[in-house]
Amino acid sequence: MPDPAVLLEGVTKRFPGVVANDQVNLRVESGEIHALCGENGAGKSTLMKILYGMQKADEGRMVVNGAEVDFDSPTEAIDAGIGMVHQHFMLADNFTVLENIILGAEPATNGVIDFDEARDHIQSVGREYGLDVHPDELVEHLEVGERQRVEIIKVLFRGAKILILDEPTAVLVPQEVEELFRNMRGLKEEGHTIIFIDHKLDEVLEIADTITVLRRGKTVATVKPEDVTAHDLAELMVGEDLPVPETSASTVTDEVVLRVRDLDVEGSDTEVALDVSDLTVHAGEIVGIAGVEGNGQAELVETILGIRHPVAGSVELLGDDITSGSVRSRREAGIGYIPEDRHRRGLLLDAPLWENAMLGHQSMNPFVKNGWWIDPEAARKATEDIIERFDVRTPGTDVPAHALSGGNQQKLIVGRELSAESRVLIAAHPTRGIDVGAQAAVWEELRSARRAGKGIILISADLEELIGLSDRLHVMLRGSLVAELDPNDVTPRELGAYMTGAKEAV
Ligand SMILES: Nc1ncnc2c1ncn2[C@@H]1O[C@H](COP(=O)(O)OP(=O)(O)OP(=O)(O)O)[C@@H](O)[C@H]1O
Ligand SMILES: [Mg+2]
Repeated sequence: MPDPAVLLEGVTKRFPGVVANDQVNLRVESGEIHALCGENGAGKSTLMKILYGMQKADEGRMVVNGAEVDFDSPTEAIDAGIGMVHQHFMLADNFTVLENIILGAEPATNGVIDFDEARDHIQSVGREYGLDVHPDELVEHLEVGERQRVEIIKVLFRGAKILILDEPTAVLVPQEVEELFRNMRGLKEEGHTIIFIDHKLDEVLEIADTITVLRRGKTVATVKPEDVTAHDLAELMVGEDLPVPETSASTVTDEVVLRVRDLDVEGSDTEVALDVSDLTVHAGEIVGIAGVEGNGQAELVETILGIRHPVAGSVELLGDDITSGSVRSRREAGIGYIPEDRHRRGLLLDAPLWENAMLGHQSMNPFVKNGWWIDPEAARKATEDIIERFDVRTPGTDVPAHALSGGNQQKLIVGRELSAESRVLIAAHPTRGIDVGAQAAVWEELRSARRAGKGIILISADLEELIGLSDRLHVMLRGSLVAELDPNDVTPRELGAYMTGAKEAV
């Protein structure tokens, strides 16, 4: 039998207050697609960072292609043929694709970087694997799917034979996921080994040859997809029976909490122009917005929040025209926001959790004392409540946000926005990167916010989530709401057809 591509034995990694990996074993055969599953904070990213030389295990051994290794840096892992695409992309926005790919691996002639050679090489790597990218485009102009292709080419450019993809599908729409899976299968045919992390269990069952499940830092099972169901996997991950979600009666009222009328927002190279005639949200209602990313959802949210200003039209909150109000005044007047990019908009990564738990609400109750001063005690208390209610796995309220796993960062933000006393909540991809157990909990929280009379705009790439939660669904295409659908009456497939414009409203 050939050597496994990766063999980890007894790998242990401790952080202050947590054992992220506890005697983990992992065996990845050469040439297979191996999925790593587990709850938020189970230790998946940590294990992969250890394999990639970014972090050092406290104990254990690692064998790559039959040779024992002990990496002190990613450079050493790269030399051993390992490449990693991170959960949060690491490209520099203001550089081109070409510059990003060759950064740190410049092919030089007499010490001069040979851009032409690099460009040729990138295009040939791209062609070989069907990964289409434009070398001279600025990274900030790229859509997520394309950014991801750049990250993958970057790894292949460095000669990786073992690819680690940390939650590659989390940011992709269904069509992009299909493309990624085609690319992954292509890479496998070329003899690459792929280890990937994914919370969407149907995807895991579709693409993986083998699945390893981690729970609270330990390996609990290695299984074949043909032997398990998504439900089995979920129970392996959480270690107990999953709650059955309740269906709930409609709570929609006549009270309009948010209304957007005749909105006209200018676009640019990178921004979609908006033309939205009417978007109404009632108290007790979840209005879903479906759309392929980049069709104006971000611009619409920014206009409602006051980050962007329309040339014409109005935004009304509880009957008041707030079109010219500042972001802060709108937040204070009752708009909550779960942002789609948790690092750029949702968190201060270096600040402690208790500061993050009031971010955006720091000028409001209960965080203000005597009119001016922020009350750290109230903030700590609020943080503890969020940690408890949303099961945020953390050693305490004083650790910086970056010490939390990706899904736990997301739970903190969702908890903050759902705890705040807002009337309107804009939830952009609220369960992105969240494990199945926590996803069910967030859905329940959104339903309970609806019962309590909030009006919610839900933007999500997860069509099951949109259909399952929304009272009404709009489809956004090229800056306009092109169809209004009854979620009880539409399948994900049909919805997908409206989203791409293949099907039109009658
Ligand atoms: N740099 C760090 N400092 C302190 N604690 C950390 C650090 N990195 C990770 N941890 C902790 O280690 C544990 C495992 O985190 P890890 O990121 O590996 O989880 P994960 O399985 O990838 O979760 P997710 O699905 O949410 O991405 C968590 O409890 C996390 O808080
Ligand atoms: Mg992770």
